[in-house]
Amino acid sequence: MYTPDGHTRTCGLIGSPVAHTQSPMIQNHMARATGQNLVYLPFPVACGDLEAAVRGALALDFLGLNVTVPYKSDVIAYLAQIDPLAERIGAVNTLVRCEGGYKGYNTDMPGLYRAMRQDGVEAAGREVVILGAGGVARAVAVMLLDRGAAGVYILNRTADKAQAVAQEVNRMAGRPFAKAYALTDYERIPGENWLVIQATSVGMHPHVEDAVIEDEAFYRRVEIGYDLIFNPGTTRFMKLTEAAGGRTYNGARMLVYQGIIAFELWTGTSIGQDMADELCGRMAQALGQQDGGYGR
Ligand code: ATR
Repeated sequence: MYTPDGHTRTCGLIGSPVAHTQSPMIQNHMARATGQNLVYLPFPVACGDLEAAVRGALALDFLGLNVTVPYKSDVIAYLAQIDPLAERIGAVNTLVRCEGGYKGYNTDMPGLYRAMRQDGVEAAGREVVILGAGGVARAVAVMLLDRGAAGVYILNRTADKAQAVAQEVNRMAGRPFAKAYALTDYERIPGENWLVIQATSVGMHPHVEDAVIEDEAFYRRVEIGYDLIFNPGTTRFMKLTEAAGGRTYNGARMLVYQGIIAFELWTGTSIGQDMADELCGRMAQALGQQDGGYGR
């Protein structure tokens, strides 16, 4: 049996709330399976205490932290360094101890990309439809730019917000990479067999009967529907996509892979596919047992 000792390294999750998190299960399982002398714990951080929490982690020589809602952007102010992708995304979910403090990374989007690759979905060279224009949708657009997608169509209830995100991403791209539309204007998107990433919170527990688009005509054009929501496991967006003949995935595997990438950054140990698959099974089981609450 593993027993922490004088050499044990500590990692953890800061956010508010953190009570429903599955990350300790995932991280401690990887640590035990790979023989790392590391423990991972949840640390609720009250509003206004973020800087003190990061300073405290540094003082206690924590190896790393995950950061969740509502601090993924605010934490950037307290970093010694930031990874370029995280900087462009504007959100950090992983802190790694470095010279003089912590270096911030975003492993959520690389996690989504790794999950997509495992699902046999290649974004490179492909045009992708993104539903939403909030922080998560913006992060997805930046990731797709980074990974060589041909372009993105950003569909949002508020067209102005979609336009603002598209302009920002196009500035990063140095070319017209993103186009913005109101949700109701989806007919203007060319082609068939769309890859659609649902990046709004619509349909999340307890509002499981909601979807941003109800039109069957939209779903008939969807080949693959990714919902970044993981609770419920099958969202209304996914049900509508499947009813029209499309294939769907939820956000649970992205959640596992963001944790795997964080663990790899902290320990320098690669997690193989067998372990990743086992963790995905454990995550699906844990989420299935959870009644309502959710957490990263
Ligand atoms: P996050 O950081 O999780 O992306 P956010 O920045 O608040 O959260 O963005 C929420 C996204 O969900 C937005 O795209 C929002 O659309 P608006 O820009 O029009 O507000 C979208 N959203 C939230 N509730 C919605 C609803 N009931 N119908 C359609 N879109 C909705």
